[in-house]
Amino acid sequence: MRVSVVGLGKLGSPIVAVLASKGYDVIGIDTNPLFVEKMNSHVAPVEEPLLQEMLTEHRARISATSDWAKAIAQTDMTTIIVPTPSGADGGFRNDYVLAVMDEVGAVLARKPGYHLVVVHSTTMPGSVGGPIRDRLERASGRKVGPDLGLCYNPEFIALGEVIKGLLHPDFILIGESDRKAGDILEGLYRKVVGVDANIARMNFVNAELTKISVNTYVTMKISFANMLGEICDRLEGADVSVVADAIGRDSRIGKKYLKPAVGYGGPCFPRDTIAFGRVAHLLGGKADLALSTDAINRRQVMRLADTVRELLPGGGTVAILGLSYKPHTPVIEESQGVMLAKALADAGMHVVAHDPMAAKPAESVLGKVARFAATARDAIAQADVAVIITPWPEYAAIAPEWVAQDGARFIIDCWRQLEPALFGDQCKIIRPGHQETLPSAAGRVAAE
Ligand SMILES: NC(=O)c1ccc[n+]([C@@H]2O[C@H](COP(=O)([O-])OP(=O)(O)OC[C@H]3O[C@@H](n4cnc5c(N)ncnc54)[C@H](O)[C@@H]3O)[C@@H](O)[C@H]2O)c1
Repeated sequence: MRVSVVGLGKLGSPIVAVLASKGYDVIGIDTNPLFVEKMNSHVAPVEEPLLQEMLTEHRARISATSDWAKAIAQTDMTTIIVPTPSGADGGFRNDYVLAVMDEVGAVLARKPGYHLVVVHSTTMPGSVGGPIRDRLERASGRKVGPDLGLCYNPEFIALGEVIKGLLHPDFILIGESDRKAGDILEGLYRKVVGVDANIARMNFVNAELTKISVNTYVTMKISFANMLGEICDRLEGADVSVVADAIGRDSRIGKKYLKPAVGYGGPCFPRDTIAFGRVAHLLGGKADLALSTDAINRRQVMRLADTVRELLPGGGTVAILGLSYKPHTPVIEESQGVMLAKALADAGMHVVAHDPMAAKPAESVLGKVARFAATARDAIAQADVAVIITPWPEYAAIAPEWVAQDGARFIIDCWRQLEPALFGDQCKIIRPGHQETLPSAAGRVAAE
């Protein structure tokens, strides 16, 4: 089977590489000529671990074009991974996907034989079986059914681990127009992921609701852990990591994502949670848990900012270590580090920032309010207080000698990467959610 991939961005390029690595001939399409040119030269259009190596190794099966007729006519399946940006109301917009349906449909109108169209982009429930199918049928003059298949197959992948996630997904979600379309996509996944792939097949609307429900449940766990951290900030003797670790041992709960640290960010978690709330609202229902999850998340930056404010001497400098929303990606969308840097600068503090990959994109947002240090060590040397906000592995290597003579007197270690005992009195390691390391006063709640 030959596959065309529409959208060569953060997910589309790795999908091209992974399909080619499993023996598929892949043609990429993008409206951005630079991405097409790069893919044709087998140069990764985006930064993602392993992507360049895979594009180089499997280049014989990879090409790209801006010519829709060529790409669609020469392939049996077209998979679409273009943006579905959030609108002002919190729902996802379909404009880009609909524009693609016009292009794909126009070619399919002239192409004989079966073709499968797969929507990977995250959509609001009702979109794929509604306006997206309508647009494909109108543009192609064909009906979705026996000779034109349509599937919804959203991704749960985190940036920085896209290739690993594509090859080893927790499960694969398929919304299908009919059995034949689902069988073809399932067959592809059994080849890509393995015969044991965990695949859930259903209709479009169930799959669309499942996608945002998974992310909303995960963010609920993160916000629960952070809410627990807020309580532990104030409770004498409490340490949130001890409590969260114990809670996670219960098999009904599990440890994954029950990690108290900083709020969640990135291109999916915040907006999927908000979209979940929007779905309920549009239906006249309630999504209180999703709304509270989002509200708890939004206050995490100010929680950290308050701690910095308590520790920082007047006129002092704070170092923000980590600007990407997670390690191994330059993406700063909804990044807690960028938000914290901005909040502290807005409050009149001097900010020096560092990130191994995201300094450049962050400079375009923070350039005027923060200085940028070339290394974490430089940033710490210039600061009175440092905050490790993204758990890059290199921050775990922050050593006592970096602060021995001068430099930060406090390091706020959100992800608990450092061993406080090693730092002695020279530099105190502050752990959000570990009350006795925090500067604020503690309380008790026991009845007299
Ligand atoms: N990035 C993530 O972590 C992630 C995770 C899960 C799901 N998603 C979903 O995947 C979708 C795509 O996300 P992304 O991060 O890969 O986006 P992206 O912005 O990195 O890439 C999208 C690509 O599509 C191209 N494009 C736009 N309109 C086009 C058109 N009409 N024809 C051809 N190409 C077109 C753009 O030029 C760009 O290269 C979104 O719906 C997003 O919600 C993203």
